[in-house]
Amino acid sequence: MSACGASSARGRLWSPTMRTPGESSHVFDSPLKARIRKAVVGGAARLGLGVEPLDDTRTFVKDDSTKLPELVARFDFIPGMLPQRRCIHLYMLALGGVQGDIAEIGSWQGKSTAYLAQACADTGNGIVHAIDTFEGNPGHEQNYSVGGSRVNLKESFVANMERAGVADWVRIHAKSSIDAFDEVSRETAGLRLLFIDGEHTYEAVKNDLELYANLVLPGGLIVFDDYAPGFEGDVRAVLEHVSSNPGRYGRPFQQKNTLVLPRLHGQP
Ligand SMILES: C[S@@+](CC[C@H](N)C(=O)[O-])C[C@H]1O[C@@H](n2cnc3c(N)ncnc32)[C@H](O)[C@@H]1O
Repeated sequence: MSACGASSARGRLWSPTMRTPGESSHVFDSPLKARIRKAVVGGAARLGLGVEPLDDTRTFVKDDSTKLPELVARFDFIPGMLPQRRCIHLYMLALGGVQGDIAEIGSWQGKSTAYLAQACADTGNGIVHAIDTFEGNPGHEQNYSVGGSRVNLKESFVANMERAGVADWVRIHAKSSIDAFDEVSRETAGLRLLFIDGEHTYEAVKNDLELYANLVLPGGLIVFDDYAPGFEGDVRAVLEHVSSNPGRYGRPFQQKNTLVLPRLHGQP
């Protein structure tokens, strides 16, 4: 057990709001989540996708949907650190919500970026601000090489976005998230989704939240990758941020290692 109360139970890290016995396990089990579901399902329906509620054990896209297999096949060539299922989850989350842009901290070779950008393209809603040093996580740079050798990560990211057909929806900020903040703030009227997948340390996530959470619009979402055992720094930074901003967020929901934090309407 860490200082933040993270449990070792897989997929059950959101300890302050752990379900009580008998409480519904349905992901969209509160009015707020129902509203998010309505937005996601509505956005997906407009694109002809059949969508079912999401839970831990089954996919939320009906087998008769052809759109997602097409996307998966189209983006399959991009190296990525997120499993396909989490990429699809991101895409679905990015289909709904308020009018606004998306910011992604930690793009690497653009796997998650492509799904987020495709959601912008499919809905005509915003662009993705892709923020990455393109150097790999500090101290672990060797883990971010592609094909066993150190290619220019930014150049290969650009080539991947072009080949994926989403470059028009991606604005690259090739610098640290701290250094990119002023640029992103100037260029966006607000974020409907902030995806945090950069350096998974307490300091990095804390800094990213202190800066970028202010750009998230009421009704928008903050999505964290690796909110999971082994990433206690992430977890602590998220818990501290939520508790130091009372009333700003609705109850988060977790799908495997992904935590989704909804920003409430009409709150500071
Ligand atoms: C886990 S990878 C991102 C994986 C990517 N989302 C995907 O779908 O494959 C983390 C990335 O964060 C970047 N990064 C680490 N610290 C950063 C920082 N302070 N600012 C911007 N990017 C950072 C690294 O260069 C690396 O490419």
